[in-house]
Parts: sequence; structure tokens; C-alpha cells
Amino acid sequence: MKTFYIETFGCQMNVHDTEKVVGILLAQGYSRVLEPGQADLVLYNTCSIRDKAEQKVFQRLRQFKREAGRDKRFAVLGCVAQQEGLRIFEKAPHVSLVCGSASYTRLPGMLEQLEAGARRVTGLELDAGETFETPFTRRDNPYRAYVTVIEGCDKSCAYCVVPFTRGPERSRTSRSVMEEVRRLAGAGCTEVQLLGQNVNSYRDPSAAGWDFAALLARVAEVPGLRRVRFTTSHPRDFVRGIVEAIDSNPVLANHIHLPVQSGSSRVLERMQRLYTREDYLRRIEWIQVARRNIAISTDIIAGFPGETEADFQETLSLLDDVGYASIFSFKYSPRPNTPALGLDHQVPEEEKGRRLAMVQEKQRAIQLARNAELVGSLQEVLVEGYNQATGQWIGRTAQNRVLNFTRAGSNGASLLGEYLSVRVTRAGPNSLAGESVESAGTPPAAESV
Ligand code: 5AD
Ligand code: SF4
Repeated sequence: MKTFYIETFGCQMNVHDTEKVVGILLAQGYSRVLEPGQADLVLYNTCSIRDKAEQKVFQRLRQFKREAGRDKRFAVLGCVAQQEGLRIFEKAPHVSLVCGSASYTRLPGMLEQLEAGARRVTGLELDAGETFETPFTRRDNPYRAYVTVIEGCDKSCAYCVVPFTRGPERSRTSRSVMEEVRRLAGAGCTEVQLLGQNVNSYRDPSAAGWDFAALLARVAEVPGLRRVRFTTSHPRDFVRGIVEAIDSNPVLANHIHLPVQSGSSRVLERMQRLYTREDYLRRIEWIQVARRNIAISTDIIAGFPGETEADFQETLSLLDDVGYASIFSFKYSPRPNTPALGLDHQVPEEEKGRRLAMVQEKQRAIQLARNAELVGSLQEVLVEGYNQATGQWIGRTAQNRVLNFTRAGSNGASLLGEYLSVRVTRAGPNSLAGESVESAGTPPAAESV
């Protein structure tokens, strides 16, 4: 019996790639184990977006170095594999397989080479015109599924490795996306999240020629689905049709993630983001004047080269202007191959840390105030988990807020995958707490403030 262990780092795209890779391994006759110590093949699906993420995989490889041998192989997949390529064999000579995400369709052949005794196998081509679609995808979650619509990225943001690690944009045909979504809904899945590095530049390669707004509207019509989400959007390609689609169909979750990175037009230009603060705020206005109350989240980078105190203050004021429901924020991390490496005026590490802390402190106050507005309201949640320690169920609202709740008389019956109405009783900066008030299966509660 051949066994494998896989660990995933990074974004949802990587999490979903792992589901596909697991499917391929199972189809090749491997079985999955949950400890690296028990596996014949140990795979790391890696992320290189920031240096810290990249270092994690090398830590892991060092940790298990002594165990490697003819009967125990190590594989590095994903973004670090693509970025570092053959250098991985120098840094970690006990690695046998290095494969970037654009080459996963060739994994079955590579696994066979490994089994036949090949010492080193690589898949590093980036120009693959094909998308990575496999009939074997093994999803862990029966009611919530990721569906890739576009792979790669054609933008060239000055700080970002993704164009180098995931290659050029390739859209799936709308037919293939629709078939997968119908199959998932038919099997009882109620939430899908459409994935791509830049979903807004989706362009159906078949004759139908749908853009992303059209695809989104059609996906939301698939019977059985209750929530459709998507990520991630590049502001430059974000069109009003997406807001209109959300307004016209309540199945489309009222949440948009629109990464801004900086509130200063000068910094945005140095980042090669292709929009100004004003362009971005115009898009925010489309969202804020929608009929539905749409939550907005974003990504912020603190301390990009050349960011002055005045630029940074513009980022802080943007947080106030938009009133984000949540943000992800990071210190700028210099990455190999990226244009920003050559920029002068790098911001000292300590100053980046100070700015990041200020961003997070300001946003914490904004979130606390925004969440407090929800106390007393009814929210519909999809139940995602149970916290033994607190005795609370963990739900998620359509706006993507975590709502921990108790439920009288549930008698230990699992509520996982149910949609429930929950009365919000308390608000913190990062989550809400409440009590479930109705029985499972009731129609959605009215959308709240
Ligand atoms: N340094 C810091 N943050 C980065 N991101 C992307 N590249 C870098 C980098 N070099 C952030 C951006 C992006 C998110 C996924 O990660 O904010 O939107
Ligand atoms: Fe990390 Fe970006 Fe690769 Fe996702 S696409 S795994 S975030 S480097």
C-alpha cells in the first residue's frame, strides 16, 4: 500500500489545488495518512507570497531530512516549487519531486517515474495553455466547495510573485464550470466559491464568450445553491455588472473582497496597480449605492518602497472612508524576480512594523463599531463547525462574518451544513456571538442592517 501525507500553505487556490492533487493521488492507488511519519510520499503545497510563507517549507524539509530515503520521498509543489525550481534540489537534496501548479495535469506520469525509481522529477513549465481540471477532485467539505474559474495572472503588480508562480491567465470554459457547479449542487453542496487570482478578467474561451458578471449570474441560478461567493477581484477589472448581479439575485453573497493595497495614488502607481485612489473609491461607491447591503473587505500592504508618512496617512484615511468589514494586512516583503526589488527608498523593517500595527489598530476600532451595529439583528448563518471548549456552534453570515452561537435543545444533533437564523447578542472586533432562534431549514432571515 502506497501512502501519502500532504500539507498546504497559502491561499484558497492552493487549498483547492490540494483537493485536486489528493484526488489524483487516490486515483493512482495511494492512500492518505495524517502523519508525515507514516507516509511513503510527503508533499508540501507551498506559498511564496511573502518570505515568511516560503521559509516554512524549508523548515519542514529540514525537520524530516534524516527520514528521507528510497522508501520515503519528498515533494515540493506550488508556488515555491515554481519560483525556486531546480534550486530546491540544492537547498534540500532529499527532495525528489518539484512541481509548479501549471504542471499538475502531468502529475500521474511524474508519480509513475518516482515509483520506477527516478531520483529527481520536475514539472516547471509555465506556458501551459491548459487549465488544471481533473475528474478526481476530493473535496473535504460536503456543503461548501471551491470551483476554479480562471488560473494565473496577467497583471504585473510590482511586489507580487504570482505572475511568475502561476503563469499567464487561462479561463475555463463556461460549460465546464457550469457542469461542475451543477454536479456539486446535485450532490447536496449549497455554497460555492468561484476562485481565481483575478476572477474579473474571466473570459469564456468558448463561443458563448461570457464575462465574469455573466458567469456569476448563471452560476447563482443553479438549483440547490444558497450562497455563491467569489475571490479575488482586481479593482482595475471590477465592473458594475458584478454589483448588479449581486443586487438581482440573493443567492450571490453580499460580500466583495476588493484588495486596494494602499490609499495613496502615488504608491499605487509605484505598485503598478493601474488605478488611483479615486478610481478605487468610484468602485466602492457602486457597491455602497447597491440596493443590498454589501460588505467590503480588502488587503493592505504597509511599507512598500517609497511609502512616505503622508502616503501612509492616506491608507489610514481610506480605511475610514470605506469602513471595511474586514481586512488582511501585511508588511511589504521583497520577493525574487519582482520589479519592486529594484526600487529605492526601502522602508526599514521597524517602520513597516509600526505602520502595520497602526493599520490593524485603526481597523480593529472600525470593525468593532461596524459589528456593534449588528447587535439585535437576525442573521442567517451556514453552520461550519462546533467549538468544544465554549459549547458554541460556529456559523458564517452571507457577509462573511463569523457568528458563534448557542442553540437550546439541539441535543447534540449535528447542525453542520444547516442554514439557521441567529439573533446577534454581542459583538467583538473579529466575530459576533448570538443565539439560534429558529429550527433548522427555515427560510432565510431578512437581510439585516
Ligand atoms: N509583500 C507583502 N504582501 C504581499 N501581498 C502580495 N505580495 C506581497 C508582498 N511581496 C499581499 C497583497 C495581496 C495578498 C494576497 O498578499 O496584499 O493582495
Ligand atoms: Fe501563495 Fe500567491 Fe501562490 Fe496563493 S498564488 S499560494 S497566495 S504565492
